[in-house]
Amino acid sequence: MGRLDGKVAVITGGESGIGLATARLFVAEGARVHLAGLREDLLKAAGAELGADRVSWSVTDVTEEDQVISALAQVADRFGELDVLFSNAGISGPIVPITEFPTDEFRRVLDVHILGAFLMLKHGLPVMRDGGSVIITSSIVGLTSAPGIAGYATAKHGQVGLMRTVAREAVARRIRVNTIHPGPTDTLFQQDIEVRATGAAAADAARIFDGMIPMGRHATPEEIAQSVLYLASGDSSFVTGTTLSVDGGMII
Ligand SMILES: NC(=O)c1ccc[n+]([C@@H]2O[C@H](COP(=O)([O-])OP(=O)(O)OC[C@H]3O[C@@H](n4cnc5c(N)ncnc54)[C@H](O)[C@@H]3O)[C@@H](O)[C@H]2O)c1
Repeated sequence: MGRLDGKVAVITGGESGIGLATARLFVAEGARVHLAGLREDLLKAAGAELGADRVSWSVTDVTEEDQVISALAQVADRFGELDVLFSNAGISGPIVPITEFPTDEFRRVLDVHILGAFLMLKHGLPVMRDGGSVIITSSIVGLTSAPGIAGYATAKHGQVGLMRTVAREAVARRIRVNTIHPGPTDTLFQQDIEVRATGAAAADAARIFDGMIPMGRHATPEEIAQSVLYLASGDSSFVTGTTLSVDGGMII
């Protein structure tokens, strides 16, 4: 028996990193999964790896309302009502002081994380079964911050406000809504941030970041996926409106 047997899930940014690790785990636990993302080559590869009977995919920009509506319609056609919505798509944006932060890039970072999650929730909840689960990937910088990341940290904090509001609204339908807050996780996304933040080569930058993490290492995407599975499944049946840090002790 899988923990998501018979469940239908949508994962945004499901073609790489944390999203793909979660898709693999969800399928292993019995779910059928739709991947919505930007990179067609990676979406196609993930679909081929996980099997067309269990996985569908669409090129979907989460900031475009018509594309979000169309992706959710595809899920309904293919698999039926939704049980799990994992809003995970993200971009990091510039790492510069606010006085140098390009306004259009600030707006884009907010759009991907906040408008993107808003649109997925707005159009996902009507096609979700009562008792479903929504998980939004925020970050440790959705709970604290660091210099240079005005766009990313503001967006990740904003997702918490969205989560708390919708957790209140959806509770009448027993739909649970939570944010997950990973610390540095071993993906190309994080490697790029670390290289830009430190000015060091990737391996040295990773060591510098390891030094900031009480557990002394990055998370693997698979470790984050296990926590997403917890929030997605009945294992967390009394958990809603919460911020789950998965960060090796960075926020204590
Ligand atoms: N890796 C980390 O250390 C870390 C830590 C905390 C939070 N996060 C968050 O985890 C999530 C996944 O990050 P990751 O590390 O797996 O990186 P990733 O780059 O592998 O994943 C991000 C995914 O989002 C997709 N995406 C970007 N913009 C999109 C858009 N407009 N519409 C649809 N899809 C879009 C990308 O194509 C990509 O597949 C992000 O929200 C990120 O902010 C990552």
